[in-house]
Amino acid sequence: MTIAPTPDWNPRSDAVQQDQIAAYDHLRDQHGAAYSEMLHWSVLGHADVLRILQDHERFSNVVSRHVAVPNGMDPPEHTAYRALIEPYFTQERVEAFRPVCERITAELLQALQGRREVDWVAAFALPFAVRIQCAFMGWPMDLEAELTEWSARSHAATLAQDRPALDALAAQFEGIVARMLDERRASGADPQQDVTASLMHATVLGQPLGADAIASILRNWTVGEIGTIAAAVGILAQWLAEHADLQATLRAEPARQPEAIDEILRLHGPLVTNRRVATCPVEVAGRQIPAGGRITLHWTSANRDPRVFEAPGEFRWGRNPQDNLLYGAGIHVCPGAALSRMELGVALRALLAAVASLAPTAQAPEPAHYPAIGFARLPLQLRWA
Ligand code: HEM
Repeated sequence: MTIAPTPDWNPRSDAVQQDQIAAYDHLRDQHGAAYSEMLHWSVLGHADVLRILQDHERFSNVVSRHVAVPNGMDPPEHTAYRALIEPYFTQERVEAFRPVCERITAELLQALQGRREVDWVAAFALPFAVRIQCAFMGWPMDLEAELTEWSARSHAATLAQDRPALDALAAQFEGIVARMLDERRASGADPQQDVTASLMHATVLGQPLGADAIASILRNWTVGEIGTIAAAVGILAQWLAEHADLQATLRAEPARQPEAIDEILRLHGPLVTNRRVATCPVEVAGRQIPAGGRITLHWTSANRDPRVFEAPGEFRWGRNPQDNLLYGAGIHVCPGAALSRMELGVALRALLAAVASLAPTAQAPEPAHYPAIGFARLPLQLRWA
């Protein structure tokens, strides 16, 4: 029997939940790799995270007995499924989807017109992420409430490590997917026009995708989209509200917005962790991890490592984009990065054009709890243009 190491920290503690960014910075500087009962081996340094991303033989993505397409797979299975999903995220598809994002953004901003103070998360970030996700998959907008609630409950159950609740949530999502597939079978939806219908006709290694694989792919995209995009939209608005000078620069020079978005999201990452498992005994940051050891990669911490980013807590123009691990690296690098950059770009450009100023209010924002990050509530003052 192997004896678990003494925990270095508790990811659920109030101190961590109140300020995840500061907590992970501290942990990285103290330990490099830290053990906890919840996340097991947290890897926090940039070089260590990068090394793991590039070594999928010793660090496997098969972290659970549940199917997870393609993020819970290793080559050669991963390679086949990855080839299946990549065509959904080409630059051409992303551009074709841009007008839909612009329309959704305009409708949401229109509904807020004239309001001087809003909770940006509830009023914009969450509905933006959910509506865009429904539109991307060809799902009806009346799923908005169910998906929003599902996403919040899924975060709460993950933090509590509530197995029965997580199983019930997986079953609920499969139910949504089954409904979507039934509707498409009944209506004969065109696979050229509808992403979900297209997945129903897709094949991998000469075989049609099973219902489990379709549900897993759609769950992966939904979690990717709703969680990270909503968090990112909140983080961007908060940073700009706190930095009026940057807001003015980006309003005057929209061409600089893409670089600013990636740099703000380096400072405050919208995705906290992903998992790996060691396939053999390994040493990471001076710690011995046994074969089968569970590893948690901390994006938010690696992206603020002072050994790679000078003055890591400062917004700086001209940083090397290769160093930014916002969308990961290696074979599992985010396939949705171009889509995500387009969506965030559309939201930011429209917001900066619609309001003359964005400012914090007297009420402090409420931080979101792990596995989410960013804000649960973000009161902002808007002065309309
Ligand atoms: C700000 C938004 C986003 C961020 C920060 C983000 C970040 C990441 C990162 C860091 C990974 C690597 C995970 C790993 O190595 O284990 C990843 C993978 C992935 N992301 Fe994203 N992502 C975002 C948005 C999206 C969107 C919009 C989609 C799709 C609709 C998406 C779909 C995926 C998928 C399917 C994978 C797994 C790829 C694989 O295992 O080969 N992501 N993402």
